[in-house]
Amino acid sequence: MLSRLIYASVATEALNPEKVQTLLAQARNHNERHDITGMLIFNSRCFLQVLEGDREALNELYGRLTHDTRHRRLLLLGFEAIDERQFPGWSMGFAAADALQRTQYLRFGATSEFDPYRLTGPAALGLLMNWGRTAKSAERVKGQATLQKVAATG
Ligand SMILES: Cc1cc2nc3c(=O)[nH]c(=O)nc-3n(C[C@H](O)[C@H](O)[C@H](O)COP(=O)(O)O)c2cc1C
Repeated sequence: MLSRLIYASVATEALNPEKVQTLLAQARNHNERHDITGMLIFNSRCFLQVLEGDREALNELYGRLTHDTRHRRLLLLGFEAIDERQFPGWSMGFAAADALQRTQYLRFGATSEFDPYRLTGPAALGLLMNWGRTAKSAERVKGQATLQKVAATG
């Protein structure tokens, strides 16, 4: 059953921004093989990730994620069945949160800083989808969206 899982977490010292690239390569490789798509936002401290795919595959991945010492304090923001993917073709899109605009945080949350722990599930999805739309008009490489920064748009 096609499902979507969204969670927030905090990076540990074992994960500096450079190591995120290694992590993404690993994630994309696994996700491609398991038909998992999604998007990851990171601001050097917090992660917000959406994962789409088979329910059991997502559940299994979330189990592994909870044991990954590169992040901690995992907070499940949503896990539900869906009719269609919002990130088809993205084995794992990536956005550095500093490239996101304060207006986007203000629109989907009460804060002007990126703080996924203060987002509801629907607001987190809104932020991720909004970012995905911005990204589409910039660099989009199927299976390996390597977006780091996108120029601010009105
Ligand atoms: C923030 C974050 C996001 C991750 N996203 C994914 C992902 O989308 N897909 C994936 O397979 N692994 C992802 N991983 C890595 C997994 O936690 C795990 O290390 C990987 O699946 C290999 O698991 P294994 O060592 O048990 O085989 C992510 C790790 C972190 C810290």
